[in-house]
Amino acid sequence: RVREALGAREAADAVRVQGWVRSVRSQKEVLFLHINDGSSLEHLQVVANPSLENRDLTFGSAVEVQGKLVKSPHRKQNMELQAETIRVVGPCDIWSFPLKMKERHPLEYVRQFPHLRCRNNTLGSLLRIRSEATAAIHSFFQDNGYVHIHTPIITSNDCEGAGELFQIETSSEVRESAEKTHFFNVPAFLTVSGQLHLEVMAGAFTHVFTFGPTFRAENSQSRRHLAEFYMVEAELSFTENLQDIMQVMEDLFKTVTSTVLSKCPHDVELFHKYVAPAQKSDITHKLFFFSSCRISYSEAVEILKQASQTFTFKPEWGCDLQTEHEKYLVKHCGEIPVFVINYPYDLKPFYMRDNEDGPQHTVAAVDLLVPGIGELFGGSLREERLPFLESRLQRLGLTDAYQWYLDLRKFGSVPHGGFGMGFERYLQYILGVDNIKDVIPFPRFSHSCLL
Ligand code: 4AD
Ligand code: MG
Repeated sequence: RVREALGAREAADAVRVQGWVRSVRSQKEVLFLHINDGSSLEHLQVVANPSLENRDLTFGSAVEVQGKLVKSPHRKQNMELQAETIRVVGPCDIWSFPLKMKERHPLEYVRQFPHLRCRNNTLGSLLRIRSEATAAIHSFFQDNGYVHIHTPIITSNDCEGAGELFQIETSSEVRESAEKTHFFNVPAFLTVSGQLHLEVMAGAFTHVFTFGPTFRAENSQSRRHLAEFYMVEAELSFTENLQDIMQVMEDLFKTVTSTVLSKCPHDVELFHKYVAPAQKSDITHKLFFFSSCRISYSEAVEILKQASQTFTFKPEWGCDLQTEHEKYLVKHCGEIPVFVINYPYDLKPFYMRDNEDGPQHTVAAVDLLVPGIGELFGGSLREERLPFLESRLQRLGLTDAYQWYLDLRKFGSVPHGGFGMGFERYLQYILGVDNIKDVIPFPRFSHSCLL
């Protein structure tokens, strides 16, 4: 691998490297190539006799190079490969290839080529970071005694109750739309959250997590919404306090971010240098100031009402916080993440725990708002008391559908809570990426499902 070759301590004979050509520079006496195989941001320099040059050896072609690995005379790199043979495994027509040598293509440009953009530096770095962050998330939970649960992708319930569901039907059902029975006998959907299934498991394991694809039919073209995104979710039993949930959010954020920083320093640096220059010094700031601001929803509304700024949506107790409101709150707190807790009862899904307060009736919910993104985490204590849950479900007409959920409150119910973090928004935040479509390999959003 290129990464191993670059990091080698000593010269070596008969080394073979496979990868794609990122640059070709031919001089009278020597031919220089840069090879990349996705294992690192840095390319391996290959030095060859010009006699090894051939027509197919171009930018973008796939090659296999054999030769001697030697100390490089250049200060900037450790090792280089002196080629003895170069075999072009797959040529590349540079005229029709959408990526060009030595060009820093804008992210919007490469977005048109989801099948090729992974061969550019920015997406290469992003995907390595994404892979490390995924592993770090799993390690964080495993190291802290959580059991990983594969929650289903196909489900018959709407956890968030927001109706942003994709329904699943077989293609023949769609064709013969007459009164045919459903494949599953009941309407089935792509999951919007694994929470309810995690709650089942939290009745046996106390600490569980899931990390998988999540689907929302939000007709939004915004730079922070996708129709398919990855969510990290955790559920903790024997938890009576929102603070405990917030503490896990914070630990998760800090541990994963530090791991990413130490495992992929060059990849992270690329983002901070070229994609979001203003954020460069910010990542330690982000780690440090993670949770210093905590306000209640009611306080948030007061802050907004007293703002000198005029909002398109007038802030009013009982109304959802709009993007402009979230932005203002983050700014008000000094451009750091803000925990907002205790939201209006009527704004939030049925499963959130009633705070039994008044006259402004709230539930024990927590959202974390972060600069530049808005909501990164959403969580709550869950209603573990049977009578409260029964009456809420009854009012919503959901009693029949959620008998099993009520059972959880009949058979050994415990106070519990949990949260979900949007993985793409997390990557956007730590890397300073403006558009969510650039932090997922194959973005799906309304009016677009390429590949
Ligand atoms: O706030 P949400 O809707 O919370 C839940 O689904 C809970 N059931 C989670 C739980 O408690 N187990 O979603 C959680 C997070 C949001 O804070 C946001 O970061 C992300 O998921 N998210 C999206 N990310 C990208 N595109 C979308 N359309 C998203 N919708 C939510
Ligand atoms: Mg939310």
